Amino acid sequence: MNILFIIGSMREKSFNRQLANKTKELIGNRANISYLDYKNLPYMNQDLEANLPEEIKNIKDQVNKADAIWIFTPEYNGMIPGVLKNLLDWLSRPWIPGNYASGTPLKGKPVTFSGVGGRNQTKSCREMLNILLKRLGMKVMSEPSCGFSFTPEMQKTDTLELTNDDIQLLKDQIDAFLSFIKS
Ligand SMILES: Cc1cc2nc3c(=O)[nH]c(=O)nc-3n(C[C@H](O)[C@H](O)[C@H](O)COP(=O)(O)O)c2cc1C
Repeated sequence: MNILFIIGSMREKSFNRQLANKTKELIGNRANISYLDYKNLPYMNQDLEANLPEEIKNIKDQVNKADAIWIFTPEYNGMIPGVLKNLLDWLSRPWIPGNYASGTPLKGKPVTFSGVGGRNQTKSCREMLNILLKRLGMKVMSEPSCGFSFTPEMQKTDTLELTNDDIQLLKDQIDAFLSFIKS
């Protein structure tokens, strides 16, 4: 089983990337994990669609090949970060331009999401992702979904610290998602 991790932050020491790394460790040999590198993805521009840049073709291909997607993202101003929304907009376009019957790389694909953020634990962003990903025709597992808050101490060290209870929540989401993918 191949699960593609998508991180909604470009920050090198991103807490969300650290959460993804922890998730990979806890999944162990139950699935193959890869990370989508989309830092060079251009802004959505319909003019580019007539002659799709290699970068976009490559990203669509990686998403298409994955059995499932797991998004780890902060929220920016209570919403989905722009870089992630831009990626999802690109992936929402049909294989054959203008022909939605040809499908998209996201259609029918199992997806779940988690996040590290401030006091809100990325709740607003995850609610929006739930709406957006369903609209894009994905098979969404919105519960259980982990959200964690960073502490002032973590901000000082740029290191994500998870309690045993946090780890248990993450394990619960992993187990639920692995079953969900197979269902
Ligand atoms: C433009 C911007 C907007 C933000 N808005 C929120 C917010 O609405 N809620 C929140 O909890 N944190 C917010 N933050 C703080 C981020 O949660 C914090 O920077 C977090 O570390 C980002 O995730 P990362 O460590 O994975 O990069 C915002 C950060 C930025 C840069």
